[in-house]
Amino acid sequence: MPRLIAEPNPFPYANGLAFTVDGVPSPVLRFRQGDTLDFELVNHLDEPTTVHWHGLKVDWIHDGHPLFSVAPQESRSIQFQILNRGATYWYHPHAHQRTAFQAYHGMGGALIVDDEDQDRLKDRFSLVPGVTDLVQDRVIDGNLLVYNEGHPLHGFLGDQVMVNGTIKATKKVSATWHRLRLINASNARIYRIALFSEGQMVPFQLIGVDGGLLEQGAEVNEVWLSPAERVELMVDFGHPLMGSRASLQSQDFTELIGPMGGPTIQGHPIHIMDFLVLRKRPVVRPAPNFDGLSVVATPDFTDAPFRNIGLAGQMHFTINGAVFDMNEAPITVTRNSKEIWSITNNTTIPHPMHLHAVPMHVLERRGSPQLIRSQAVDMRGRLPTDLGYQDTVLVWPFEQVRVGVAWEIPFNTEQSYLFHFHNLEHEDRGMMVNVRVTP
Ligand code: C2O
Ligand code: CU
Repeated sequence: MPRLIAEPNPFPYANGLAFTVDGVPSPVLRFRQGDTLDFELVNHLDEPTTVHWHGLKVDWIHDGHPLFSVAPQESRSIQFQILNRGATYWYHPHAHQRTAFQAYHGMGGALIVDDEDQDRLKDRFSLVPGVTDLVQDRVIDGNLLVYNEGHPLHGFLGDQVMVNGTIKATKKVSATWHRLRLINASNARIYRIALFSEGQMVPFQLIGVDGGLLEQGAEVNEVWLSPAERVELMVDFGHPLMGSRASLQSQDFTELIGPMGGPTIQGHPIHIMDFLVLRKRPVVRPAPNFDGLSVVATPDFTDAPFRNIGLAGQMHFTINGAVFDMNEAPITVTRNSKEIWSITNNTTIPHPMHLHAVPMHVLERRGSPQLIRSQAVDMRGRLPTDLGYQDTVLVWPFEQVRVGVAWEIPFNTEQSYLFHFHNLEHEDRGMMVNVRVTP
């Protein structure tokens, strides 16, 4: 059985940590739908850890719940079948009150699942597999990663962005269509992703979200990527607006954020990475067709009961008034039932809310800030990223987002899954609840 080792990883940062496989830190793990994932998790840290398979449908014993932590120098075998669609998932620690620290110091990586939709996409665009970008913000001092609990409201925000472990990352690309898979593995930073070349914004196609491909691509100028979310983009580096250099940036959105101070604030513009476009040749080609990428099956939620979820607090946030207690489950649902969760954000900061095990289908956004409303693609206020399977949904201040949740899981014993704010500093401080699923 391959070993996934949690261990110190002093290169290039002396205080780095990593999950390694065969000595490779943070490897991209690749599977096909239906494969079995099989690892021996070995803990060589001096504190407990676990590994969570973010976005996958896994029985709770193997889902990385902090109750099943692996103590220092111990190990545990993890085995389950990959049931999910082809998509960009990821793995990271979920240790009790130590998730933020361990993830920030480098533990985590991409987990790619392939299926027939993904095969068709690769054939259609002659895609070379391999481009997966893990985006994280950091503060670096010499050869050390600087970390503290960060801003009490916003969590820890870095002053520069690392892509796949590199700061000021630059990638060479040919002047044609490329797929980018972006994973926001930052502890707290939300990105408003846009692509610029020679001072101009270059549009791109959004083709996939957390849980796989959309039915069709959406041409957009920008896309939101909150912590834990993923997007798959198709970028035409031969686009008429594209020069020999392009940069991926997060644009300003401080207008949407509650008051705060400090130099590295949420919503400030920040540079992500650059592309050097090789052999720029203007070619006239037929516009590719981004229709029929997949079929996104949405269960029927018309008669599903509502459950209200209120997010509140100023410094210490709560979910329906609750703070995390490992042994309590404030929400109980029945396997194979359907519910509409109406999530209301009564705080001044945006909350990316994440549910383990099953996707959330965004049905409607109400009371959205003006900027968000202006980006809606339908009468229900939904954004382009809301049209696929989401495991993490960004809820803006004073917004209400209704999501359909179908508890379709094949595990017929009682399960306990986490639902939480994917701001890791706040997750560790308890903005998380167990959801019990009764068989
Ligand atoms: Cu990405 Cu409960 O986590
Ligand atoms: Cu998760």
